[in-house]
This record gives sequence, C-alpha cells and structure tokens, in this order.
Amino acid sequence: MATVNPYYSNLPGNYLFAEIARRVKEYCASHPDNKLIRLGIGDVTQPLVPAVIAALEKAVREQADAATFMGYGPEQGYAFLRETVAFACYDGLGIDADDIFISDGAKCDIGNFQELFAGDATVAITDPVYPVYADSNVMAGRAGPLGENGRFKGMVYLPCTAANGFVPELPKDRVDIIYLCYPNNPTGTVLTKAQLAVWVDYARENDSVIFFDAAYEAFIRSDDVPHSIYEIEGARDVAVEFRSYSKSAGFTGLRCGFAVVPPGVSGVGPDRKRVALRDMWNRRQTTKYNGCPYIVQRAAEAVHTPEGRKQCRAVIDLYMKNAAKIRDAFLGLGLTVAGGVDAPYVWVTLPAGMDSWSFFDALLNRAEIVGTPGAGFGPSGEGYFRLTGFGNPAQTVEAVERLKTFRME
Ligand code: MLT
Repeated sequence: MATVNPYYSNLPGNYLFAEIARRVKEYCASHPDNKLIRLGIGDVTQPLVPAVIAALEKAVREQADAATFMGYGPEQGYAFLRETVAFACYDGLGIDADDIFISDGAKCDIGNFQELFAGDATVAITDPVYPVYADSNVMAGRAGPLGENGRFKGMVYLPCTAANGFVPELPKDRVDIIYLCYPNNPTGTVLTKAQLAVWVDYARENDSVIFFDAAYEAFIRSDDVPHSIYEIEGARDVAVEFRSYSKSAGFTGLRCGFAVVPPGVSGVGPDRKRVALRDMWNRRQTTKYNGCPYIVQRAAEAVHTPEGRKQCRAVIDLYMKNAAKIRDAFLGLGLTVAGGVDAPYVWVTLPAGMDSWSFFDALLNRAEIVGTPGAGFGPSGEGYFRLTGFGNPAQTVEAVERLKTFRME
C-alpha cells in the first residue's frame, strides 16, 4: 500500500470556497425557486473586453494555419508578453522581462512557490488570509497540526483586525517567509508606501523573503498606495511579486498571471551558499510546467494596449461602483466597514457576538445573498463578513435593496 502525504490530514475538511459551494448547492436543492445573488467567491461577472476577444480570435485563427501554428511555448512565457509586462507594469522599477514568469494564474504560482524552500522554513501569514498561503504550507509539512485556536501550530500569525486598523505588526521572532497581499484579500484594506517599507526593511534586516500578492493592484484609487512592492527601495533583493489577469481583466476562466522574481532575491543552499530564487523557479517551471497557452498570452498582451487598458478600466470602475454600493448599504445598517475603496472586497464588522458562519446562513436563508464568512479566512476573521463587488450590477443593486431591510439578529 502506498503511504500518502501525511500532512494532508492536517488540512481543514474543505477548501473554503468549496465548502461555500457545498452549502449553496444544498440550499438551491431545497429551494428550487430561489433568487440567489452570489457575492461570495470573487469571481467576475462581466465578459472579456473587445480588445481581448479580438486578440483571442486572431490567435485562434493562427492555430489553423501551419505557417503560424504554435506548439510548445517557452515555459517562462513568450517574450512578447514578458517584455510587455516589464514595460507596462514595471517601467522605471528595475524589473526586466527575464524576471517575469508567465503562468496560468497567481493562485498556482503562490501555491507552488513555497516549494523552493526547506521543509523547516518558518512562515508568517496575515490573519485573516487568502487560504492558499496557509494550505499550501500545510501540504508541504511546514505548518504542523491545527490547534484548538484555529491556528496551525507551526505558523506565525499576524492578526489584522479593526483593533490595529488591519495593519499587521512585525513578527516577534524572525521568520523566513512572509506572505503579504495588498490590496488585501479578504479585508479590502491597503498599506501605504511607508507601511510597506517597514516590511521590506524587516526582510532585508532578517534575510527573509516576502511573497507579495498584488492580484488586486488594478483596483487602487488612492495616491499613496503602492501598486508594486518594487516601488519600495530595496524590495528587489527580498520580494517576489505575484499578479493576475483574473480580476483586472476578467480572466478567471481564461487563466493567466505572472510571478516576478528579480535576480537579487535569494535563499541559502545546503552548502550555505546563496541561491537565486529566479534560477530555482526557472528550474521548477521548466520541469513541471509547459507554459500558459499561446492564445491566452496574446489575450493578456491585449490587456496592455491603449484600447485594452481603457476597456478593462471601465469594467473595474463598474465593480468598484458595486463595492461602493455594498459598503454604503452596510454603513446604512450602522455597521463598521473596511475595504471597497482601493479593493473590490467589502469587509463588514458584524455586531458583537455574532459569528460569521451564522451570519452566512442567515444571509443565505433570509436574503438569498451568498457572502463569505470571515472565519473561513482564519481565526482573526471571526466576527467579520466579506462581500465582493464582482457581482452583476443589477443583482448588486437588488442585493443592496435586500440588505436595507435585513434584520441583524
Ligand atoms: C476570493 O474570492 O478570495 C478569490 O476569488 C479566490 C481566488 O482568487 O482564488
């Protein structure tokens, strides 16, 4: 009998969004005439923009002709997209096309990147947190068992709650890896340049590596909020950045993202010599990955054209209008709300004593609105609830109407 990876048994029963889907399916089965509005998982609802569709159509036609047909592509991504990204997203920040690794999405990259580190590397995550950061380290045996307090015993938690303005404090003991996501999923909050610089300085002083998830950077409106960690002096030596076309260009189904791994970011090998993570990531990707599809990379390239940018910006504006409406609805109920200003997520503080899964059930059963319970993102998410601005606008207006008459109890 083959012995399985024992660390999987340390994982909580279901992945958060799978558990929500299960409960929703159950509800729909027993309420066939439901008028459910789904504002739970941050999945987009608007179609791909015309510039992207045109690029897809052209690339598909190329596949029909032997002269332009493309087979295996470079595992790191085609030069046309790597160069476009380096210029469009990192001009003036010292990032080269060689530092960009195109993939089928940020979730896979972030889940996989921890593989480059030793099994005993110490890991800090903000709490609440996008579950992939925690679960991928659990699978690698780095997190230990789940304690009764809902925390994995081998991980360092950095609480982000209303009490600290959702700004994490530096870990008390040194850690090897720090996961940061800004604009934040799930709280929708941001860090200013000065606040992010604290983390870059920490990583430099402690020889740590920051995994910076910038999947929501396109939603930033405020001036002093960095779009990339490389806007912070010294970050190129300590930070890897992950970006995604999912939310910024509606690619949740199409799948494309990228990791930025500058050559100065390193760890220490068994001989105590420095090893560049870029070389390791390249080795890993060339071994385990055959690259994002050509047609998808052409579609991603179109996002950075003037028309693509304008069209995607209009869709982002629409989602942010949704988020503002949800925010106002909860404020109208007298609740405290974070997010929804520089991020598509609205993070609601529930009335004292109300637990987030009970609120999830109440909202589902009494208003037919699906949200995400804060506790699903970690123990410090208890007492909070997340709704997304990614809904269809008419349904979001309807959800807001339902919320106005919703009794919090
Ligand atoms: C979320 O709802 O947190 C996101 O959609 C999850 C993801 O991007 O994988």
